[in-house]
Amino acid sequence: MKIIITGADGQLGTELQGALRGHELYPVDIEEIDITDFTAVMEKVACFGPDLIVHGAAYTDVDGAELNPDIAFKVNAVGTQNLSVAARAVGAVILYVSTDFVFDGTKGAPYNEFDDVNPLSVYGRSKLAGERYVQSLTNNYYICRTAWLYGRYGHNFVKTMLKLGEEGKTVRVVDDQIGSPTNAVDLAAKLAEIALSGRFGVYHTTNVGEVSWYGFAGKIFELAGMDVDLQPIDSTQMERPAPRPAYSVLRPLSLELQGLAPMRPWEEALAAYFKA
Ligand SMILES: NC(=O)c1ccc[n+]([C@@H]2O[C@H](COP(=O)([O-])OP(=O)(O)OC[C@H]3O[C@@H](n4cnc5c(N)ncnc54)[C@H](OP(=O)(O)O)[C@@H]3O)[C@@H](O)[C@H]2O)c1
Repeated sequence: MKIIITGADGQLGTELQGALRGHELYPVDIEEIDITDFTAVMEKVACFGPDLIVHGAAYTDVDGAELNPDIAFKVNAVGTQNLSVAARAVGAVILYVSTDFVFDGTKGAPYNEFDDVNPLSVYGRSKLAGERYVQSLTNNYYICRTAWLYGRYGHNFVKTMLKLGEEGKTVRVVDDQIGSPTNAVDLAAKLAEIALSGRFGVYHTTNVGEVSWYGFAGKIFELAGMDVDLQPIDSTQMERPAPRPAYSVLRPLSLELQGLAPMRPWEEALAAYFKA
């Protein structure tokens, strides 16, 4: 199968290249195709002629998006619009990677794929706009929402915690936002499975289980064998431009209903990350 991977240099994109090994891959990042450039997207996609586009490229700076909404909408909404039009033109399937931030976090229970969306932030709205372009402009698509991603490549919470822990100072982390940390290797494998399944639709794809950022940090230090003075704080003590959902745990109901395996628990996935 001929597959384009966008965001190929990102923390998910690099793992996707491994998970889709054996296929004819065209991994692209902004240097190869700026997804906001309609003409370039149409030309490059037509030239390669993919069967599948796994679209992981995004403007992922949540606070930056709040301060620069136009950039977030240009990359996450218009970039996805361009790829959707190009996918339709060549008859390719598209898999779009979306986010738990499409939900407002007020449900008080895990969100499934049939729950109503209501993003709080510009980032969430821009990613939701991308979902809507995929749904309205292509016939055969997968939308896979994920959350709290960490991996070997790029910036992420695990690396930040390890760096702060090494500095030996008190580390303060919010304890009133609950979600599901997700290992990029696990996510890439699950996306590859879904993308080749032919079962088009919307999927929740995170490692299962839930924890606060504070609890997540505690587990990171435990697995790293680091003795760190870790203090819980609440979100009001941390001024950030973008509001975040207080509870954005995703239930993988579509996987369950399709008889596909959910991803393993986040604690196991984090332990595997440290072991690797
Ligand atoms: N990280 C998370 O916690 C999280 C949570 C939920 C959902 N997601 C979604 O999961 C996907 C992968 O996330 P990630 O953490 O792997 O992201 P990432 O590491 O930030 O990778 C995204 C990649 O997209 C590239 N990109 C940005 N603008 C582009 C453009 N105009 N044209 C082409 N490429 C462009 C980035 O290049 P530059 O680095 O040069 O900008 C980067 O290499 C994204 O769709 C994201 O929205 C992530």
